[in-house]
Amino acid sequence: MLKGKDIINTTQFSLQELDLIMNTAANFEKRVKDGEVIKNMEGQVVAALFFEPSTRTRLSFETAVNRLGARVITVASAASSSAAKGESLADTIRTVDGYVDVIIMRHPMKGSAQIAADNAVHPFINAGDGSGQHPTQALLDIYTIRKEKGALSGHTVTFVGDLKNGRTVHSLGYFMALYGNKMIFVSPKALQMPEEITADLRNRGAEIEETDNLKKALSVSDIVYVTRIQRERFENPAEYEKLKGSYIVNRALIDQAKKGITILHPLPRVDEISTDVDDYEGAAYFRQAHNGLYVRMALLALITGRA
Ligand code: CP
Repeated sequence: MLKGKDIINTTQFSLQELDLIMNTAANFEKRVKDGEVIKNMEGQVVAALFFEPSTRTRLSFETAVNRLGARVITVASAASSSAAKGESLADTIRTVDGYVDVIIMRHPMKGSAQIAADNAVHPFINAGDGSGQHPTQALLDIYTIRKEKGALSGHTVTFVGDLKNGRTVHSLGYFMALYGNKMIFVSPKALQMPEEITADLRNRGAEIEETDNLKKALSVSDIVYVTRIQRERFENPAEYEKLKGSYIVNRALIDQAKKGITILHPLPRVDEISTDVDDYEGAAYFRQAHNGLYVRMALLALITGRA
């Protein structure tokens, strides 16, 4: 079903494909936890091209490749590749495509994922394209929701923070709409979800409320997805300084939220979730980051036909 496919954005998936990814990830999770030496992708080579900083996405992809018995070659920064000499993205991808079986790329430019995929014969995975999309994050987010809540439907989900620049919420919003969940968007006015995304989600049947009242939103939410104010997307540092710290989720706020609320965050966090929340049992953000390994193993195995 997914063999040979590029992974560009979350609008591309059917419910059947998502079921397959979730079930394959669960299978890999069990096999890894059982201590199995997995060889599904033995003999294959994967390129991880990271032209923007990353901890979780790059290292979980690299771990996934290693856990699948394949090998990985990495560009860990734009400065360490010939992009620094002015090479075009298209030329870089056409070159790397001749070396490997899969290309994974993170790049600061929105829309770069499609350009890269168009220049590769082998399957391509978008690991974040500027303020565009981060589909593999959204896949691990729904894997986490399924594990934490037992179902992917029937929830009210609050997204809070930098909804304008946060590619993770752009991606996850489409999955939440697909599964029929209600969404509440909480942000400063300057960082609201882009109108074209909100309109598109509503056209797809999503129920969406927009507010600046986080406390009220949390009183009716089953899940809160907290995001960092994306400093690297601001042209004017003074504007970032004005908006940082707009919303802080702390233990006192969680104690007044709907009972059993699950707290997600793609990480890294700066100060938008206080550390006094970390020992709340519904604080799932580190479990969420760990789930990325199994979901990325599933994706790699499925698109190479090795699941
Ligand atoms: N969630 C996420 O993309 O984290 P990194 O930037 O560390 O990869």
